[in-house]
Amino acid sequence: MWFFSDVATHLSLWLLALPAHLLDFLGLWEPLAMRLFPHFYAKVSIDYHAVMHSYKKKLFSRLSDFAGPSGPLKVLELGCGTGSNFPFYPRGAKVTCTDANPHFQEYLRKSQAENDHLHFEPNLVAPAENLSEVGDASVDVVVSTAVLCSVNSVQKALKEVLRILKPGGAFFFLEHVCADPLTWTYIFQKIYDPSWKCVFAGCNLCRETWKDLEKAPFSEMKLQHIMTPFLWRLMGPHIIGYGIK
Ligand SMILES: C[S@@+](CC[C@H](N)C(=O)[O-])C[C@H]1O[C@@H](n2cnc3c(N)ncnc32)[C@H](O)[C@@H]1O
Repeated sequence: MWFFSDVATHLSLWLLALPAHLLDFLGLWEPLAMRLFPHFYAKVSIDYHAVMHSYKKKLFSRLSDFAGPSGPLKVLELGCGTGSNFPFYPRGAKVTCTDANPHFQEYLRKSQAENDHLHFEPNLVAPAENLSEVGDASVDVVVSTAVLCSVNSVQKALKEVLRILKPGGAFFFLEHVCADPLTWTYIFQKIYDPSWKCVFAGCNLCRETWKDLEKAPFSEMKLQHIMTPFLWRLMGPHIIGYGIK
């Protein structure tokens, strides 16, 4: 049964991707995708967020453990998107939202207004690979959910994370990743990766993100592979956890 639902998903993906591939060929797709993606993501991510809710609740229950002795928890989120993680942050936390795409701001501001238990610093439009506006060792916690799949360089992003974290601070992540190579999911991920990347604004279906996390110089890394029951099996395999600087 799942096989037929996967085939239906894949056919719709191809149909969606056809005009995108054509515009990409003409060099017109990237700026258009940046504008369209936030509206598209706000709609298609509703199911995803519902499935991830329990995982996030458990993961983010540990955020407060990393608050410094002198004041509220300082959180910086990479690729905030529509701001779906804010309800999980502890009351009074100071949150800096960053994203490479300025067209998410409308959704971000709405979500910020709805989460008045938090204090928001000015939003930063900046790629995770270059957070030069953020000081060294200035935040307690960095968060990334479904972002490392899209950055140009996971290694550069992690270097920035380690630079801005205070010693003893933590990087919390929940990311979809490449499946086990001995599975149908892996084969489908490989087949659909180019179309997926086009439709989902640069998102890689088959990234082995855990390898970069394990290589990065965190003093401690708690990383778990999980298979989430997400409707689209292509995005089932995830990694979840945190690394301590
Ligand atoms: C799939 S969305 C996830 C949004 C949000 N983190 C969530 O969990 O709902 C990916 C987000 O990463 C952002 N993004 C993509 N490349 C990025 C980069 N190099 N640096 C920072 N953000 C990036 C996108 O603009 C988008 O907001």
